[in-house]
Amino acid sequence: MILAVVGGGGREHAIIKKLKENKTIEKIYAIPGNGGIAEDAECVAIGATEIDKVVEFCASHKVDYVVVAPDDPLVLGMTDALKEAGIPSFGPSKAAAIIEGSKVFSKNLMKKYGIPTAEYEVFSDPCEAYKYVESCPIPTVIKADGLALGKGVIIAETRDEAKAAVKTIMEDKKFGKSGDEIVIEEFLTGPEVSVLSFTDGKTVVPMVSSMDHKRALDGDKGLNTGGMGTVAPNPYYTEAVAKECMEKIFLPTMEAMNKEGRTFKGCLYFGLMITPTGPKVIEYNCRFGDPETQVVLPLLDSDLFDIMRAVSEERLSDMDIKWKEESAACVIIASGGYPGSYAKGYPIELPEDRRGIYVAGAELKDGVPVTSGGRVLGVTETADSLEEAVKKAYETAGKVHFKDSHMRHDIGKRALSALGIK
Ligand code: AMP
Ligand code: GLY
Repeated sequence: MILAVVGGGGREHAIIKKLKENKTIEKIYAIPGNGGIAEDAECVAIGATEIDKVVEFCASHKVDYVVVAPDDPLVLGMTDALKEAGIPSFGPSKAAAIIEGSKVFSKNLMKKYGIPTAEYEVFSDPCEAYKYVESCPIPTVIKADGLALGKGVIIAETRDEAKAAVKTIMEDKKFGKSGDEIVIEEFLTGPEVSVLSFTDGKTVVPMVSSMDHKRALDGDKGLNTGGMGTVAPNPYYTEAVAKECMEKIFLPTMEAMNKEGRTFKGCLYFGLMITPTGPKVIEYNCRFGDPETQVVLPLLDSDLFDIMRAVSEERLSDMDIKWKEESAACVIIASGGYPGSYAKGYPIELPEDRRGIYVAGAELKDGVPVTSGGRVLGVTETADSLEEAVKKAYETAGKVHFKDSHMRHDIGKRALSALGIK
């Protein structure tokens, strides 16, 4: 089998390493991949959103199956284009990817089908939005409708901040057309849990739960980032919470998408908040999370490619998906200055054993990996306990060196204190 994985971050590296456990796979192309992924796959210099070129490449290189990992090619309809060319793939259709591509769509879907989420209003006229934030409860949450590289959500602590957010998104168009409409929603409180799931539109199989650490600095301070580390499983996702989520959120979402004629097949990501009145949906993603994937897939004890094909062929209910009874921790090592401006091109020294190293922002310069992005790589370790996994991840992270590197030193701390461990 010849596979292609579209994307070029740590998530894609984790997907590729897991896929390689399947011995029927002879070759994997990474489109575009990166300088670290190049150790595990053949990188192809085509952008992840260049749909025509990706389809043409896969057709001419006899690719049997394509995994489309990032949100933007999915929202643009890459799996539909591959299907038209007769190439099977993993990832939702354009019609289903809208669950992430439009927050207005996903909020309206939840309202229509009674899926628990924050109360909200939708605005397409900035004047109406300004008027609304004059009297709405504060803090409030303002979200651009469309994709915004994970930065289209602003939590406003004051009315002035709320007005500034409306201006930034709707008038200054910081996120382009993604800000033509906005959602203004109720501020929720409670621990956050990420649950990725496999679904073929008939069955939904949640993966092991995880916890992201979005802020740049220790103690959840500093700016929001693409994620500075993850742990799995998430201690707040108890059996009782899992049961409630399945009944009130996961199955109703799958069924709602079917009823809308937008059957979702792929990885459906539920971003949840465990509020005092029960779990609520903060966001849906139409894909594997990054860096959640880097802790979830190492705990998967079944063959990823078999599961993906079962999803594509709507035979997920036949699969017996197993998880290791272990914990995982991933520490992200970033370029100093990220998520603000940072320098690039520093040589990266990696440990000999790279099993748990997932590279996000590196390119090869004369055969040597050098930094090329904000988040440079993630280091994942697994162990019998979360405490041990965190300890091991930091030990391995200590063997990675490049100039001006930055990492948080408290990944897993909140999860451990929830487990009663200091
Ligand atoms: P999103 O990009 O939708 O994941 O939002 C980014 C982050 O903003 C989430 O991980 C939450 O921490 C926070 N957030 C989003 N919506 C709300 C809400 N309604 N109440 C409180 N926090 C929120
Ligand atoms: N870690 C959050 C995301 O992938 O959107």
